[in-house]
Amino acid sequence: MRTAFSTAKSAPSQVSAEIVPVAASGPIPAGLGVTRTDLAGVGFEAKAGQTYAMPSAGRGKPVRVLVGIGEVRDLDENGLRTIAAAAARACVRHESVSTTLGGVLRGNARGGARAVVEGMGLALHRWHDLKNDKAGLAKLTKVVLVSADKGADTKAGMDAGVVTAGAVCLARDLANTPPSHLTALKLADKAVEVARQTGLRATVYNRDQLIAMGCGGIVGVNAGSKEPPRMVKLVHAPAGARTRVVLVGKGVMYDSGGISLKPSDASHASMKMDMSGAAAVLATMSALRALKVKTHVTAYLMCTDNLPSGSAMKLGDVLTMRNGKTVEIHNTDAEGRLILADGLSLGAESKPDAMLNIATLTGACMAALGKRMAGVLSNNAGVVEQIKASSARTDELVWELPLFGDYRRLLDSNVADMRNVGGPLAGAITAGLFLREFVGNTPWAHLDIAGPMEADGDDGWLNRGATAWGTRLMIDFCANFRKPTARTSPSRKKK
Ligand code: BES
Ligand code: MN
Ligand code: ZN
Repeated sequence: MRTAFSTAKSAPSQVSAEIVPVAASGPIPAGLGVTRTDLAGVGFEAKAGQTYAMPSAGRGKPVRVLVGIGEVRDLDENGLRTIAAAAARACVRHESVSTTLGGVLRGNARGGARAVVEGMGLALHRWHDLKNDKAGLAKLTKVVLVSADKGADTKAGMDAGVVTAGAVCLARDLANTPPSHLTALKLADKAVEVARQTGLRATVYNRDQLIAMGCGGIVGVNAGSKEPPRMVKLVHAPAGARTRVVLVGKGVMYDSGGISLKPSDASHASMKMDMSGAAAVLATMSALRALKVKTHVTAYLMCTDNLPSGSAMKLGDVLTMRNGKTVEIHNTDAEGRLILADGLSLGAESKPDAMLNIATLTGACMAALGKRMAGVLSNNAGVVEQIKASSARTDELVWELPLFGDYRRLLDSNVADMRNVGGPLAGAITAGLFLREFVGNTPWAHLDIAGPMEADGDDGWLNRGATAWGTRLMIDFCANFRKPTARTSPSRKKK
């Protein structure tokens, strides 16, 4: 994240703009020198996220950018995050701004400051490493959060927001990077570097080691590529942890479809983002120590590309996965589930209290839910409940799809334990049922982020391009994790 945040007790005069929150009713801030009628006259009604730049109050004084916050009683952290994003977008041409926006949530200076940092930090993020002309980058790199109180809560909220927004920016940068610039090897190197900086243990597994470990899924998907695969294991091991979580991320560096080649359609340029799950998991891990997360968290990043060649896996081939189950390949484009299978098997071996995987897994999930929410499929109602709670706090929406056991037969194979695809119908569900074969009895949930992995335009805290969707949700999940008490939901029992 390029934006630097700091706190101050009163508005500094050196900034070039001041973001002034204005509610839709009640008195307007003193000192603006305008009335509500004046503002209505220029079309500013202080609706949530509406902005209006006033001329500066005098030479050398900051420009005042009014931002509507709607009705204060309706405002929560999610609303404020989106408002802060709009305010940031209105100030991209200023180098530095100050704002009291973090203080508008009554009695919640901490949550307010965090929401403002997240909203502004994410709205101002761009990935321009390969552009010679950096004009599209926001000039705004300094934000001062002004708080009337002692400032401890504001500072704590800001620090947390800097960590979470920084994590999201890391994952977005990785997912936006072109596929030949970010190979599995390079992502593994990056993960090791991030681990060193953020207090994680990292272990990288190469192809020979993956073969020795019986990880036939990732090795099989990698067979067509000149670039070797990598699996990265990251561990956050806080002293005295009483709960354990495993995260598994799909890291397909580029998904061509393999022998089942995707059509040569420009939309497949976004298949460089098929490692968004792994990027979100790495980003999540990077935040845990700084946020003093007490849960022990182990992550597996499953990294390879999916390419056709003379050595690629073929339709009809059978792979043996880490847990011993055999899979007949009916479509090499259903590769994500194959690499996740090994990661989930490894994760289940350690018998964690819960396991999550996150993956740009199916176009079917995107068709069902669109681009603003992820699918969640789970064998445990308690895990889903915690995911929904995190989702509500982070504004990364999820919708549950059923792991309907009757559809397991769609994956039946003549020669192996299962096939890797279930036919044209219910594709998000059959993918989930496939993954379930590798989690044993572990309480588990699968997040399908094929839809929200990429945004078409700037919208609130989302920016055009890779979204790093799920990063803040998983951070929140780990930070608030409790052992799920609910048993595997009976309606979803294996047949
Ligand atoms: N990475 C794709 C899914 C995807 C599609 C992600 C669009 C983001 C946007 C995945 O590997 C894939 O190709 N899935 C196939 C599965 C099918 C062959 C059963 C799909 O969804 O078409
Ligand atoms: Mn695919
Ligand atoms: Zn894929």
